Amino acid sequence: MSSPATPRRIAIAIDGPASSGKGTMARLLAQELGYSYVDTGALYRVVGLRALGAGLDLGDGESVGALARALRLHFGWSERGLRVFEGEDDLSDAIRNERVGRAASDVAVLPAVRAALLGLQRALGAAGGVVVDGRDIGTVVLPDAALKVYLDADPAERARRRATELRAKGQDADEQAIFDELVARDAQDAGRAHAPLCQAADAVRVDSTGRTPAAVLAELVALARARM
Ligand code: DC
Repeated sequence: MSSPATPRRIAIAIDGPASSGKGTMARLLAQELGYSYVDTGALYRVVGLRALGAGLDLGDGESVGALARALRLHFGWSERGLRVFEGEDDLSDAIRNERVGRAASDVAVLPAVRAALLGLQRALGAAGGVVVDGRDIGTVVLPDAALKVYLDADPAERARRRATELRAKGQDADEQAIFDELVARDAQDAGRAHAPLCQAADAVRVDSTGRTPAAVLAELVALARARM
């Protein structure tokens, strides 16, 4: 009997709305498979953070696009997990708040910003053995990914999870305000003209509403293994 073929190291795209658990699931899936993990939202967040810091009009494609092209973005890995850098600066913590999330969504509307971030995202996905999460990974960034997942959950549950996360970090959380913010951000991400948030035609839809992270992870691992 011949020995089983070595599994292919595939690219896995995970898209979905804000706080759908994409990041957690992508990270755990990558860990389980021995793959690397790429959080593309972090790149948009850094552009948002730097644009806010520079006092730019977030709707101005020319100036924010020029800023995005000039940023020296890269990922690193430490005992604290995946880190995102601009030049020497580790911005991983500074980008994790609602204000920067909203700014990221604002600048993500701009074609010049999307174009500036595309090459890096494609390069990171090209070698395979990678789980990439975002909004347009299956549709635009890695249209040939061997597995595409659209991870969704009921907005009220997403808001509840986000509130629980914030409280666990000792922060105040107004669940209604979080819900309103999520719905507004999803509407902007799904409604934009360029690379909107949407399910790729060949993506598998996974709904995590009412399910444990372990159950969702098991489904994703099975989907991935079936494609190797
Ligand atoms: O996944 P996140 O919440 O960190 O993403 C922040 C914003 O960045 C999101 O609201 C829209 C934008 N984004 C995008 O347009 N395309 C991606 N591939 C990833 C994020």
